[in-house]
Amino acid sequence: MVKFAVLGCGVVGSGVVELFEKNKALIEKRCGQSLEMGYILDLRDFPDRPYGNKVVKSLDVILADPEVKVVAECMGGTEPAFTFVKSCLEAGKSVATSNKELVAAKGDILLQTAKEHNVNFFFEASVGGAIPIIRPLHKCLAANDFTAIAGILNGTTNFILNKMIKENMDFSTALALAQEKGYAEKDPTADVEGHDACRKICILSSLAFGKHVYPESVYTKGIREVELKDVELASELGYTIKLIARVQRLENGKILPTVMPMVVEEDNLLSQVNGVYNAVMVRGDGISKAMFYGRGAGKFPTASAVLGDMIEEVQLDHTIPSQTWENVNSTDFIEDFAAFTAKRYVRTTGAQAADLTAVFGQLTGTTLNTADGETVFITDTAMNAADVSAAEEKLAAKGIKVLAQYPVLVS
Ligand code: HSE
Repeated sequence: MVKFAVLGCGVVGSGVVELFEKNKALIEKRCGQSLEMGYILDLRDFPDRPYGNKVVKSLDVILADPEVKVVAECMGGTEPAFTFVKSCLEAGKSVATSNKELVAAKGDILLQTAKEHNVNFFFEASVGGAIPIIRPLHKCLAANDFTAIAGILNGTTNFILNKMIKENMDFSTALALAQEKGYAEKDPTADVEGHDACRKICILSSLAFGKHVYPESVYTKGIREVELKDVELASELGYTIKLIARVQRLENGKILPTVMPMVVEEDNLLSQVNGVYNAVMVRGDGISKAMFYGRGAGKFPTASAVLGDMIEEVQLDHTIPSQTWENVNSTDFIEDFAAFTAKRYVRTTGAQAADLTAVFGQLTGTTLNTADGETVFITDTAMNAADVSAAEEKLAAKGIKVLAQYPVLVS
């Protein structure tokens, strides 16, 4: 018999407990032995729930029980989660976490601690909710040299953008609905401003390229400034605006991770990912590309991933060597955002075709002129941020303003 404990009984923690109780018989069969939910660590009491008698207030109770082999960390945030997880690993207990903030900020330290104590620090649930992506990257796809990963990694913002596009819902109503459904972070600014997606692309980048990528090194822009007008006009041009988290390896060998709204061509599978669903496109030299898709947030989808990690741990007696990356004290393997280039979706105040081609070169795609005197188009050439600023200046000299611009995703 193996015992487990759950730290934090909020949306995900309660999901772990309830999904385990619901599917206990088949989980035990798959583990090859019986499992028992030993403890729930939480500041609150849950007298009305069937597991109310399992609540403890001190981590020491869990640390002191030699039968506890694995601990689910579902508290969120870096502290006290970091201290608690480190203590569990040092006590010889593996940890499965859904906490992307923790993995993005402290993953290198916790993976090293796990290795030193011959246990595992699992984090499948920290990226993409229910989607298996961590294990495929370091196991099924381990033979590949990865060149790029691009994904929709935040369910809340994808849900909001979708509600805006399909139901004309305003931003705040859609956000309130995402919170009600348990998709959003405690502070939804992390979703809206792109920080949650940033943490997730840090985790995928670290695993795929082998060195810890910290959130501070990633250019991050959220969806707060996305206007319904651009969503509609992009759609008329055959594109969808999505919050895209991406990392690419450049020819100079450096990686360039970014999070920002991008326009995605409608024949790209990522443009079809709607609502709370997430998707991750992985490029590698063996596979060309592979795509992973599923629910990116919510109680049971995330609990499913945490329990999957716990089930693997029950079957193991060693640290998994492929699930790791180096800690680093330099960011010289990360390229500056200034090097990022892409074709652009551009919306300007009324402009003559000749003014636009003088600045952007030949425009072979559709150019739309709106009823209120604006012009939208996709540039033929890839531009970096400096090119965009220079173009804005040239247009401004002619009295033309760039009202919005988004890079076009190539994935
Ligand atoms: N707030 C996150 C999201 C939860 O919306 O995707 C899952 O990490």
